[in-house]
Amino acid sequence: MKTGNSNGSNRGLWATRLGFILAASGSAVGLGNVWKFPYITGQNGGGAFVLVYLLCIAVVGLPIMLTEFTIGRRTGLNPVGAFRALAPGTPWVVIGFMGVLAGFLILSFYSVVGGWTLAYVIKAVTGGMSTFTSPQIAGEFFGSFISDTPQVLLFHTAFMILTMGIVLRGIHGGIEKACDILMPTLVVMLLLLMVRSLTLDGAMEGVKFYLSPDFSKIDGSVILMAMGQAFFSLSLGMGCLITYASYLPPEENLTSATVYVVLFDTGIALLMGMVIFPAVFAVGMEPTEGPSLVFSVLPTVFTQMPFGFVVSIVFFILLAIAALTSAISLMEAVAAFFIDQFGWERKKAVWVMGATIYLFGIPSGLSFGLLADVKFFDKTFFDVVDNIASNYLLPLGGMLTAIFVGWWWGTDNAHKEIERHETTFRWAKAWEFLIKFVSPIAVFLVFLGHFF
Ligand code: PFF
Repeated sequence: MKTGNSNGSNRGLWATRLGFILAASGSAVGLGNVWKFPYITGQNGGGAFVLVYLLCIAVVGLPIMLTEFTIGRRTGLNPVGAFRALAPGTPWVVIGFMGVLAGFLILSFYSVVGGWTLAYVIKAVTGGMSTFTSPQIAGEFFGSFISDTPQVLLFHTAFMILTMGIVLRGIHGGIEKACDILMPTLVVMLLLLMVRSLTLDGAMEGVKFYLSPDFSKIDGSVILMAMGQAFFSLSLGMGCLITYASYLPPEENLTSATVYVVLFDTGIALLMGMVIFPAVFAVGMEPTEGPSLVFSVLPTVFTQMPFGFVVSIVFFILLAIAALTSAISLMEAVAAFFIDQFGWERKKAVWVMGATIYLFGIPSGLSFGLLADVKFFDKTFFDVVDNIASNYLLPLGGMLTAIFVGWWWGTDNAHKEIERHETTFRWAKAWEFLIKFVSPIAVFLVFLGHFF
């Protein structure tokens, strides 16, 4: 295992270029792609939403991801250390603290939903899903499962232990090795599922819904929703990708890595739509089902398709894998902060912070049962944490990162870092324009959208 980085510390490095790309893709591809993207698309008119989402990815996601990678490799540090190193003695370090806080908050509820996916893997493997013959039956099971305190806590615990176990093993030995196997498996599973879905009778209706845009459906709120989703899905705005890029050897080509990760993340989301919509239409259900689309409608779809038993196992394993590789990146971003800034051992950082995040996640886990009636401003604990982290901290972090690089640290410095070991950065002018103007303004509008 290679250790040491450009700063000469002993933090570890990715062993291969592919390892980094797979790990960053593993962070990006998660519940956001497999669970959230299809249901938001279903609720917002299908094809038209997909087009707006793709536009957001191109003009905001791509440039901000390259920016985060650049900051990470340049400094070789966690988000707090990175902003401190680039702008010593200035308040810009707040972006880093906000990022670590966002990672803490997101992982706390992400682990709860990750736990649900583990429970569904077990349900599928033990054949329990064969009773889900209608969406009502599946929905009732889902509702009673997520309100069952011991079960929810058991799976939240299991998911968090898995996440910590991988992060404990470090960059190369744990995260990279896991993603090397998990990410390609995920792609193969998705392709198999897509073939299964597309060959069902009536599947073409779903393809039509998904691919033919109805522009009358596009309004301000749809655009805002697409932008927020782009952010969450690409793991942007909280320094997670700064952390991952800090383990990069200096010869890595940042622009091509960015393009690969964005294509991978977007490709998986689009493929997921191709799995879900044909299947939903084939069995005569509604694409507008909402958050329960994956957990209660899909199992019903599985019971009605040939080889449904196998398909359900494959699908939920895939969902759990996607959630796990994202959770790992959230845990790593938080742990790296304590390792770099306080000199903690990796073991201590993971155990102490993992346990704290786990405890903080418990009220989120109980938000659908025991604590369902405990509301803060009309929202459950789960919704409050999700809302603060995903809708406020991430867009704000992304916007400030773009402003920081565009107007303070300087695009010239970033440009130099991007070209450090590469030939010319051909898209420099376009990137500069996007990062200085388009991305911050676009994200600012998303942010406003949460207020009004
Ligand atoms: N990108 C992940 C998903 O789509 O599920 C979620 C996520 C991971 C968000 C890491 C933010 C982050 F830093």
